[in-house]
Amino acid sequence: MILSQQTKTIQWFIQSHQNVSSISDSDELHKLYTDLIDCLVDHNHLYYVESTSIISDKEYDDLFSYLKKIEELHPEIISSNSPTQGLIGQVSEGFLQAKHTVKLASLENTYNAEDLNDRGDRLKKILEKDTEWTENKDIYYTIEPKFDGLSVELIYKKGRLDQAITRGDGRVGEDITTNVKTIKNIPQKLKHPIDIAVRGEIMMPKSVWKELNKEREEDGEIPFANTRNATSGSIKLLDSKEVAKRKLACFVYDVLQYSDETINLESLWLPVFLRSKECSSIQEVINACLDSTIKQQLESEDFDFDGLVIKVKDQLQRDILGATDHHPRWAVAYKFPAQLASTKIISVDFQVGRTWIITPVGNLEPIELSGVTIKRVSLHNFDFIQSKDLHIGDYVWIQRSGEVIPYIVGVIKERRTEEVQDIQMPSKCPSCLGKVVNQDMHYYCTNPVCPAKLKEQILHFVSKNCMDIQWIWESIVDILVEQNIVKSIIDIYSIPEHTTQILLRKFPGIGDKKISEIANEIEESKHQPLRRLLNGLGIPHVGKKMAQDIVQAMVSQQPVCLEDILYILTDRDFLITVYGIGDKTLDALVDYFSDQQNREMLMHLRDIGMKFTVDAGGYDLFKEKKETFSITGSFPFPREEIVAILEKEGYIFHDNPTKSTQLMLIGEKAGSKKEKAQEFWLTIYEGWETLTQRFPVLTTLKSDSASQQPKITQTSLFG
Ligand code: IVH
Repeated sequence: MILSQQTKTIQWFIQSHQNVSSISDSDELHKLYTDLIDCLVDHNHLYYVESTSIISDKEYDDLFSYLKKIEELHPEIISSNSPTQGLIGQVSEGFLQAKHTVKLASLENTYNAEDLNDRGDRLKKILEKDTEWTENKDIYYTIEPKFDGLSVELIYKKGRLDQAITRGDGRVGEDITTNVKTIKNIPQKLKHPIDIAVRGEIMMPKSVWKELNKEREEDGEIPFANTRNATSGSIKLLDSKEVAKRKLACFVYDVLQYSDETINLESLWLPVFLRSKECSSIQEVINACLDSTIKQQLESEDFDFDGLVIKVKDQLQRDILGATDHHPRWAVAYKFPAQLASTKIISVDFQVGRTWIITPVGNLEPIELSGVTIKRVSLHNFDFIQSKDLHIGDYVWIQRSGEVIPYIVGVIKERRTEEVQDIQMPSKCPSCLGKVVNQDMHYYCTNPVCPAKLKEQILHFVSKNCMDIQWIWESIVDILVEQNIVKSIIDIYSIPEHTTQILLRKFPGIGDKKISEIANEIEESKHQPLRRLLNGLGIPHVGKKMAQDIVQAMVSQQPVCLEDILYILTDRDFLITVYGIGDKTLDALVDYFSDQQNREMLMHLRDIGMKFTVDAGGYDLFKEKKETFSITGSFPFPREEIVAILEKEGYIFHDNPTKSTQLMLIGEKAGSKKEKAQEFWLTIYEGWETLTQRFPVLTTLKSDSASQQPKITQTSLFG
């Protein structure tokens, strides 16, 4: 039976037999037990080996706990194949296997206040029973974000990165050292030449994932459902040069083997995510877990988090609590509410994009998913429709995490009726009725002057990340294109003033003042740097980040005129040096800038005053937006000097910390600003050495008087 069908059948059965003891027929129980094991093993395979999943984590956990319930009630039934008997997870082929330093456990999940309360009670009882623990029996907890990525063990020998191993089945994983060495924020060398094994999570930034999916769609490949799948798919690429292009990052959160388990990881130069909150009771933990501000704060980060991890703070308490076969007792995960829902595809529309590709879009029976009503979802391309076996009238699982675009995870075949209809790709362009061709998974409109394509091109050109001409919004573009006022990008700069006036007066609230602002806006856009223009041209595979990388590499070539720029952008020897560039992007750039029509268009733009400024854009993967910071306490140097240096770097100074301040720099004898920072959950950097590690530019201030001992607070995150 197909896995999704088998899962659904089991879920239905479980629903009507919540109480295991109500299953009186032993054959029926045996069958259910073996089916449940098969089903969980298959889901594990999908998750750990194929880097995908067709059910939500909650559904998986529900199946798993039902299996445990059966085994508790009928211990005689327990099979060695049961996922409860070994560590879950599997090792895939293609990489060498490697043994973990210690068994990598996983965390038990909780979903609500009741689960957490039970947990708190249990821990208290265990500690109270222990004779070693005679002192104060209060339990202090720390709460950290739960990274939704790929778990990894990093082994350092004499301070050098020796081996990186995926989790695999917890005992043996895959040796991914070569690929991990391409991850920029993982140090190859630690501050001290020690032997240490740590555990962390490899993640793909959400922004990189979105770009990657765009590229995959343009190449006719199926996009990754989430950053976790994209991370796992990337780290398992056999060519590490390709892995480097995926711009992965890693955060370390646990010591697996070292003489001092409480060692401060950050001070070893290991990448940690400096956000945590301390709680002095389980009730405080519950409040924090249910606090939507924490969730929102995490959603605004460039990484995905699927919950929080609650850890007992005290090492002695941790040692007493120990672990079960699979999970530590001193730590537990709280999973954010499911972001998966089912709904029906009512109909399918087709949209022509700026690269001529016709994209099918499903209209859905509206559903709410993490606070947003979803009515439409991209069906990407015909291959996606076929591989997911989608029909009009089908019920599908929709997933959405954070502010990310909703995505179809899979079809619910069990709910399919005879009324479903096939989805047919159109033979004519839905916009201009031009001829449609099918090439590499995609359907293209062949009409070079297709208005729908032109509209998309213009909307992209004027968008916020490109030329940022805000007055040209969608309804204006419709009119400009339909009335033949704009036939290509350059026409934007020659819209006659009276046309603008006539056009805009149709919209309420637009007067003379606004109209003159608009003229200025178009004029000012000529000063936008080259990286924005490059993004705006809509060259396949060249999005915001790629455009930035190209221009950054170009700085060293010192182009002085457009001809220089055109020369550089068609020079394969130069282009190959751009960080993260692939063959397809390289070809697309050379094609675009060798094309006579495109060259003439750019020259025309120059003639009307476009500046083509080559600036590096201050772009850095993790600090695209420079953070806001505040400062308190005394340092070896005057605060004003520290502030001045950081401001010069682009960081934004807040005199008083507010909720929107991101970083709090704390020196000796800090006052009330420190308390405020904790109240607002700012990320705290305390002590001069910590500061200079985080902002190496501050070492320009360094003198002998600055040799202070570092003091790093991990209590900063949320409290
Ligand atoms: S501590 C289990 N802290 O979540 C041993 N784990 O099963 C202690 N995870 O794959 C783990 N964020 O790798 C810890 N802040 C965090 C974490 C975290 C994510 C992973 C862990 C495991 C999964 C839970």
